[in-house]
Amino acid sequence: MFRFLPEQASAHAPEMDWLHHLITDISVFFIVAICGAMIYFAIRYRKRDSGHHETPQIKGSHLLEIIWTVVPTLICIYIAYYGVAIYRDMVNPGEKPNMVNVTARQWKWDFQYENGKTTTNEAVIPVGEPVKFILTSTDVLHSFFVPTMRVKKDAIPNRYTYVSFTPVKTGTYPIFCTEYCGKDHSYMLASLKVVSRGEYDQWLADRSEELAALKMPPAELGRKIWEGKGACKSCHSLDGSRLVGPSWLKLFGRTEKDTQGNEFVVDENYIKESIIEPNKHVVAGYAPNLMPSYAGQLDDREINGVIAFIRTLDGTGASAPAAEAAAPAAPAIDLAKATPVERGKHLYETKLCITCHSIDGSKIVGPSFKGIYGAQHKFADGSTAVVDDAYIKQSILQPTAKVVEGYAPVMPPFQGQLDDAQIADITAFIKSLK
Ligand code: CUA
Repeated sequence: MFRFLPEQASAHAPEMDWLHHLITDISVFFIVAICGAMIYFAIRYRKRDSGHHETPQIKGSHLLEIIWTVVPTLICIYIAYYGVAIYRDMVNPGEKPNMVNVTARQWKWDFQYENGKTTTNEAVIPVGEPVKFILTSTDVLHSFFVPTMRVKKDAIPNRYTYVSFTPVKTGTYPIFCTEYCGKDHSYMLASLKVVSRGEYDQWLADRSEELAALKMPPAELGRKIWEGKGACKSCHSLDGSRLVGPSWLKLFGRTEKDTQGNEFVVDENYIKESIIEPNKHVVAGYAPNLMPSYAGQLDDREINGVIAFIRTLDGTGASAPAAEAAAPAAPAIDLAKATPVERGKHLYETKLCITCHSIDGSKIVGPSFKGIYGAQHKFADGSTAVVDDAYIKQSILQPTAKVVEGYAPVMPPFQGQLDDAQIADITAFIKSLK
């Protein structure tokens, strides 16, 4: 009963699920037995007439008391024993696990491998070999959660914590942050790729991306850092719009006031200071203590890159394409000339559908759009329907009316935010994803 757990992709997952299901079943059994008895007695011994009935006084029963003390104690000891035994297997990765350092920060995951290779929001590990993730955080509490591997552990600033497991299946699995850690907590996703040993060796040895970063012109490197390593884009826009921090558009060379009213010019020194000591001179109108220090995380070359990139964002035509290219999630398209599918794709990327619905079949928060059109779906209320134009429209306007089974009713309604033509474009785009 109640078998809702995701795919089992680690060696300890079957044991853990077995214990989890055992506890669930025991709990369900007692809930039904106790509530059932309560309901039965309430009906059986209800007041039937106006007469006065006194309940007989029943004195204690040693036999009953022994049974209901000993039986639950034995059940608890049994569960505790297996809980400890499975936990011990989980935390002991065995001989020579592959070590991966994980650094959580608002709002991304950095991974570092034994040969020095680093990645952001993507971990790759070989199948069938124990792996040990060594977690820490640079700012607040985060939590490293890989449901398919049945591991979850907090990443804590100034401390190391560990998770270990042995993946038994190749594939790509989602990694979530499961500790509310600020504005972009829900976007703090990464993927775990489990590959064969050969593929892993090849991947690990391939440092071409890092080499390319070394050879990159500074402004290009800066853009890459804005997007990836620095996660600057969570708080600093490139188009003038206000996010958590000031937009980088036309920022360089501007005269600003800090919270004490001192004027300063945004130049190389100010930008570097803001990266290393973000709270020293906060621009008036913005809150302090939000930006983490990047001291020790970005080297001088990278800081120079960020400065060079900000310098290019002067709002002139020459830099505009760079700004657009910097946000590949939302490329500018000529909407007048675009086909409905292209317009739908643009809406998918800009109206945030992309954060919860993949187009490659992988499950994020909501169902993937790939192949969903025309498919038969079962809903949380038990009914079924084929996904057609009417269903898509309803799901956009009133998302919680019919939620596909297995998904949480968390989508906000887009009523008033998308018109009929836009909904038709999105539908066309979904239809195109066979
Ligand atoms: Cu990091 Cu939530």
